[in-house]
Amino acid sequence: MAFSLPPLPYAINALAANGMCQETLELHHGKHHNAYVTALNGLIESKGLAGKSLETIVAGAANDAPLLNQAGQHWNHILFWQVMSPNGGGDKLPAKLAAKIDADFGGLAQFKEAFKQAGVTQFGSGWAWLIMKADGKLAVTKTPNGASPVSTGEGTPILGADVWEHAYYLDFRNVRPNYLDNFLNKLVAWDVVESLMEKGGLVSGQGA
Ligand SMILES: [Fe+2]
Repeated sequence: MAFSLPPLPYAINALAANGMCQETLELHHGKHHNAYVTALNGLIESKGLAGKSLETIVAGAANDAPLLNQAGQHWNHILFWQVMSPNGGGDKLPAKLAAKIDADFGGLAQFKEAFKQAGVTQFGSGWAWLIMKADGKLAVTKTPNGASPVSTGEGTPILGADVWEHAYYLDFRNVRPNYLDNFLNKLVAWDVVESLMEKGGLVSGQGA
């Protein structure tokens, strides 16, 4: 089954009041993400990937940069769209997620600072992540380009922030720290993050 661009889980202008304008989503979802899907579909036959799930492909692509670029970015963006909401942000987290963040980071403020620092210090393009590690603990990490904790095997992502310039340049120009503050305070769908924690991560439904 060919890979496809999933629709956004909200209207194209739904995040505008939360710091992500319609033009950003039109370009980011409609052009950038779509280009990864098209390029990945072009690799399916030559790489012998027919019938494999997107997760399986990403997990096996660590040493294949051309494949990781397209498959990784397809998976990363599917997660990214889902962890934002027009009702997102705020400091009132669902109880189980709040307790876990308190236990593993010492509090929400400490988690936010660690996540922001991961995004700010990712040199060039990439992603900041909140992951669940094999021992069940939450941790913050970052990856370059199309890589993710799925491709590195570091853990299960339950929140990801795209820090490629295409994610923030229209709304925040070159000021990545402000984009990350806005992401954490106005966009994150904490209920989705808790749900991903509870069910052990995202299953994209793509590919297989
Ligand atoms: Fe992106």
